[in-house]
Parts: sequence; C-alpha cells; structure tokens
Amino acid sequence: MYNATFQTLEYHITHYDLEQGALEIQYIEEYFGEFPRKKTAAEIVRRLTGRKHLILLANAPLPDDPGSVVPVSFKVAHEITVHESEPKLADLVNRLRDFVQFNGRRVLYTWIGGTRRDWRGQGHFRALTEQQELWAIEQGFDEIVVKTKNKFYEMRGTLDHLRFEVVKYERVQTDNTESKVYLSKKLLPDIIRKHRSAKTVVQVAL
Ligand SMILES: CC(C)(COP(=O)(O)OP(=O)(O)OC[C@H]1O[C@@H](n2cnc3c(N)ncnc32)[C@H](O)[C@@H]1OP(=O)(O)O)[C@@H](O)C(=O)NCCC(=O)NCCS
Repeated sequence: MYNATFQTLEYHITHYDLEQGALEIQYIEEYFGEFPRKKTAAEIVRRLTGRKHLILLANAPLPDDPGSVVPVSFKVAHEITVHESEPKLADLVNRLRDFVQFNGRRVLYTWIGGTRRDWRGQGHFRALTEQQELWAIEQGFDEIVVKTKNKFYEMRGTLDHLRFEVVKYERVQTDNTESKVYLSKKLLPDIIRKHRSAKTVVQVAL
C-alpha cells in the first residue's frame, strides 16, 4: 500500500573526519553481535590514512526515547589502485583486475558497513549508499566495488536492490556459503537521477 510518511522521511547523515569517524565506527560495530571480528579505531585509522576515503553514519532516534539520537547505520569506503602495497589490498586488486578496469579510472572500495538490527529495513543503508555515490561522483570516481559472501543473504539482497552487478564469484569448494561474491556499480551520471532518499548531511571537522 502507498505510504505517504515513507515519501517524506528524511535521513540524517554525518560525514566524519578520520579520527572521530574511526571512533564512531568502533562504537557502532559493538552492536553487530552477528559478526565476531570487529574493527578497532586503530585498524580503521591504519587502513584509511593516506587513502582517499569516506566515513558516513546515519543517525536516528531511539524508538522508546525519541529525544535521543544515536548512530544506526554506517558505511566506510576508500580508494583502491593497482599500486597497493598493503598485502590485503594488493590481493584484492589482483583478484579484481580482470573484472574491474583500474587503469585510467578511479575505483572506490566499500570496505565495511551495516545497519543496527532494530533499524533495518527503514532505508538508512540506501540513504548512505546514495550519499556515497554522490560524493564519489563529485570526487571523480568511476566505479564502486564491494565484496561479500554467499552466506550474507541480507547484504546480497540489499546490494541487489541497490543495483550492484556481480562481477566475480570465487567458490570455496569445501563450503559454498563461504564463497566470495564481488560486486560493482559504475558511476554513470544518470545514477543521481535515480536516487530516492531525502537527506540532510552534516560534515564533522573536515
Ligand atoms: C544489509 C544491511 C546493511 C541493510 O541495511 P538496511 O538499513 O536494512 O537497508 P535499507 O533499509 O536501506 O534497504 C536498502 C534496500 O535493500 C533492500 N533490503 C534490505 N534488507 C534486505 C534483505 N534482507 N533482503 C532483501 N532486500 C533487502 C530494501 O528493500 C531496500 O530496497 P528498496 O530501497 O529498493 O526498497 C543490514 O541488513 C545489515 O547490516 N546486515 C548485516 C550486515 C552484513 O551482512 N554484513 C556482512 C558483511 S558484507
């Protein structure tokens, strides 16, 4: 059924600088009980220092205390190039180089992201994704890539809705649920026209 309130919902997004953003991500990751390996602020700072990056969080009120606004969804992305020397990123680029064109183009990698369980299905991740795309186009990026696993069904479903294309599938023979799926979205100019989320964006200490 048509829902008029959905049409007018405005998302509140904060674009953080590195130091504060890393602390915010460390904090919000504590709420993701389903994933055992949480990123620390130090790890985030290490990864993002010296790389073009974007840390976005969406904030929303607590259902039982609407006066309190808390971070509920996040997305962290950084540039990857053919010149990566950090082993994990060099490996990622190697796995992708036959499927994503790096030469002469700028590629943004969505490293981590998610929405706290109680706020899922309310459009926060779409709003962050659209803001990320806007920023990436402004910054001159050509493509966004992301990696997930077969078993992350919510994320796969979401990336499908957000119109990411599968560019590579890496089978884990012993357990197909662990197989890796690489997806990408080309940042064509008409992407912005398709954006749907109304949002306010605040920049913190940039
Ligand atoms: C995936 C996740 C980020 C989605 O966040 P969310 O805030 O609930 O997403 P949104 O409400 O913004 O939904 C975005 C789109 O995806 C769709 N979607 C959301 N959850 C979905 C699901 N479980 N299955 C299918 N589609 C889904 C929505 O319908 C929406 O599409 P639409 O705008 O065309 O209607 C969230 O479920 C999550 O954090 N999951 C755990 C994270 C994870 O799996 N991490 C693994 C490492 S990759």
